[in-house]
Amino acid sequence: MIQSLRGMNDILSNDYERYEYFLNTASTVAKRYGFHYIETPLLEETALFKRSVGESSDIVGKEMYQFTDKGDNDVCLRPEGTAGVVRAFVQHKLDKKGGIHRFYYHGAMFRYERPQKGRLRQFHQFGVESFGVDSVYEDALMIMMVADILKALGIGYRLKLNSLGDQHCMPAYREKLVSFIESCDDVLCDDCIRRKVTNPIRVLDCKNDACQNLYVNAPKLIHHLCEGCQSDFDTLKEILDNHAIAYEIDTNLVRGLDYYSKTAFEFVSDDIGSQSAIAGGGRYDRLIEFLDGKPTPAVGFALGIERLMELIVMPEAVREGYYLGAMDDESLPQILKVAETLRSTQKAVVEYDSKSLKAHLKGADRINARYCAVIGENERQEGTIWVKDLLEKQESTFPLTHFTTKENV
Ligand code: HAM
Repeated sequence: MIQSLRGMNDILSNDYERYEYFLNTASTVAKRYGFHYIETPLLEETALFKRSVGESSDIVGKEMYQFTDKGDNDVCLRPEGTAGVVRAFVQHKLDKKGGIHRFYYHGAMFRYERPQKGRLRQFHQFGVESFGVDSVYEDALMIMMVADILKALGIGYRLKLNSLGDQHCMPAYREKLVSFIESCDDVLCDDCIRRKVTNPIRVLDCKNDACQNLYVNAPKLIHHLCEGCQSDFDTLKEILDNHAIAYEIDTNLVRGLDYYSKTAFEFVSDDIGSQSAIAGGGRYDRLIEFLDGKPTPAVGFALGIERLMELIVMPEAVREGYYLGAMDDESLPQILKVAETLRSTQKAVVEYDSKSLKAHLKGADRINARYCAVIGENERQEGTIWVKDLLEKQESTFPLTHFTTKENV
């Protein structure tokens, strides 16, 4: 039997209800904040991710679904959404137009990671990207938006916050950090030694305990911010305080993608095991110019839908629509006519097998219908339909014409 690939899941109807509930909730919040939907392709040129997410990142270095297509193009399945949205922003010349552009998106992302609970090779993100605002108020807006989405879904969280500095303060800090790494590189893991050259700040989120014990004494970027970055970070904390959004400063939060500067944040849950990050984002003011666009400030985030699905508190399911059943085969044509009329305004599910009334009532309950309506020999002869309201527990018989005239339903 052919099985789905490791780390790639089907979403069956029960799960899809959750998935759809999540999408509706998150999209409603995004629209209320003035964001518009954007859809970009699943497949992009590999160079896009090399130049944005960064060659030194694990995502590009180890995890890409990369191949040469039939036209000899080096392509890959998108490992994340930001790079594609920035490419579209530049390709459609929105950078030249100026002004503010706010997008949201959702869909499948692909990373060839080692699958485990909460870590898939094909997973889904809901993300937003905002272009054209350099005020730190927009960073706060992003965090408030994630908080609003999680609140609407009944999900608790911890928010981790850091500043990664900018082109003014990062180079001097990087030098200090490299000197620190060199002072102890005889005991560091191979990954950290490699990162010392490719992207030193990534050593700070090394998962190796021995390395982490040493980094307790490493210089912290947050103590070396330039005036502009420091003032933005202070303002951000003030806005979050004013909105009663609690946060923890995590000086090791460097994020696994190379494009960030200034604000970096992650929302984590303590209820889903080791893969605890449920959302991540930050500012990426240099990325648009790295991808040949006009320099444009930008900030965004993405939520991991599969991880959230575990945590969503679904509202109680309400009984909805009609279950329609025939007591005998001869009644089926009338049932189909009723279904056609009802569907112009509501859900109407037909059971084709003729069954006893008890079996039909059971069927209606199974699909959580509000009404169970049946036609049998008696109803056929009298030109009626029998209906039970499963919520109010009331039974009635109506003239069939009541249910076959669109104006009545
Ligand atoms: P990221 O932190 O790599 O950021 O991913 C965002 C979220 O996607 C994570 O917090 C996690 O919930 C989920 N996720 C990541 N990898 C997996 C996986 N293998 N299996 C299941 N869920 C996963 C980004 O992708 C950035 N593009 C976010 C962003 C948007 N920054 C600015 N704008």
